[in-house]
Amino acid sequence: MTSAFKDQMLAGKTAFVAGGSSGINLGIAQALARAGARVGLISRDAGRIEAAAGTIRAAGGSALGLAADVRDFDAVEAALARTRAELGAIDIVVSGAAGNFLAPALGMSANGFKTVVDIDLIGTFNVFRASFAHLNKPGASLIAITAPQAHNAMMFQVHACAAKAGINMMVKCLAMEWGPAGVRVNGISPGPIADTEGMARLAPTAEMEQRYKARLALRDYGDKSDIADTALFLCSDNSRYITGTIIDCDGGSKLGDASADALQPPPRA
Ligand code: COA
Ligand code: NAP
Repeated sequence: MTSAFKDQMLAGKTAFVAGGSSGINLGIAQALARAGARVGLISRDAGRIEAAAGTIRAAGGSALGLAADVRDFDAVEAALARTRAELGAIDIVVSGAAGNFLAPALGMSANGFKTVVDIDLIGTFNVFRASFAHLNKPGASLIAITAPQAHNAMMFQVHACAAKAGINMMVKCLAMEWGPAGVRVNGISPGPIADTEGMARLAPTAEMEQRYKARLALRDYGDKSDIADTALFLCSDNSRYITGTIIDCDGGSKLGDASADALQPPPRA
């Protein structure tokens, strides 16, 4: 956690992180716990989510790991109810469960497309919709983890682009509907983040990684802590007047191709 955030600023709060067994979402869960929040986490795999919760408890935090698939509304609802019963009414919800693979549209079955839309888009609706009854209102903060694919068309990413674009619009609609109840709804759009499953899938070779970095304005991958710090901001009082917004923590990904090749000016007449 950076010095911009007060120690234990989330003491007494309860958070729920969907897709929290690894990567960016686990990094967020760990940062919320370091800031004093009690954290409920879900993912499909009972062993992986229990291990993730264990890392938080080993560091002195309070965590409950539960197996639930975000495609199953009843399972998500049950996990939220148990989190509330054991850790208290929920102040912070992070919806970051996702699935992805590189495939051309013509190399993808209808079920392949549907699987990613079900996990990312429908899953986020399920998590947010089921959470509403369990929220500490007013004052709750909901955060969707989206991606630059929501804005930037990308080869072999029709499923993820469609799903994440849907999430961005869902954030705005829910922010309008739930703002009067004192519930803020925002998103974080991470750029390429080092040491994650997502980038292992999108840029699996060192050469692809270099090409990715060369196109970025900031010329490097981000760290999981960059996304965790953005999440801390979105669930702190420092962002109390921000809702319906997607924060791009992406090294400039959304700006487009910033590579030297793209910048060659024509000879001056
Ligand atoms: N190319 C094309 N289609 C693929 C594919 C690939 N690389 N990987 C999976 N699919 C298709 C499958 O063939 C299947 O379609 P079918 O029934 O018509 O054959 C469909 O996707 C569902 O696959 P399945 O393995 O049954 O789904 P699942 O629910 O067990 O797993 C995935 C979901 C496919 C997204 C899997 O990659 C996953 O669990 N991902 C989580 C981790 C992750 O992606 N992290 C990065 C987050 S950004
Ligand atoms: P990751 O480690 O694979 O995280 C995905 C998580 O979702 C895992 O905990 C996985 O756990 C869980 N999950 C998958 N399907 C699920 C389901 N149906 N129900 C419940 N949980 C499910 O990947 P990551 O790269 O860190 O990505 C995390 C988030 O950041 C995603 O939303 C991704 O789109 C976004 N993002 C990542 C990057 C990047 O650079 N990595 C860039 C932009 C956006 P189980 O396998 O145990 O279920």
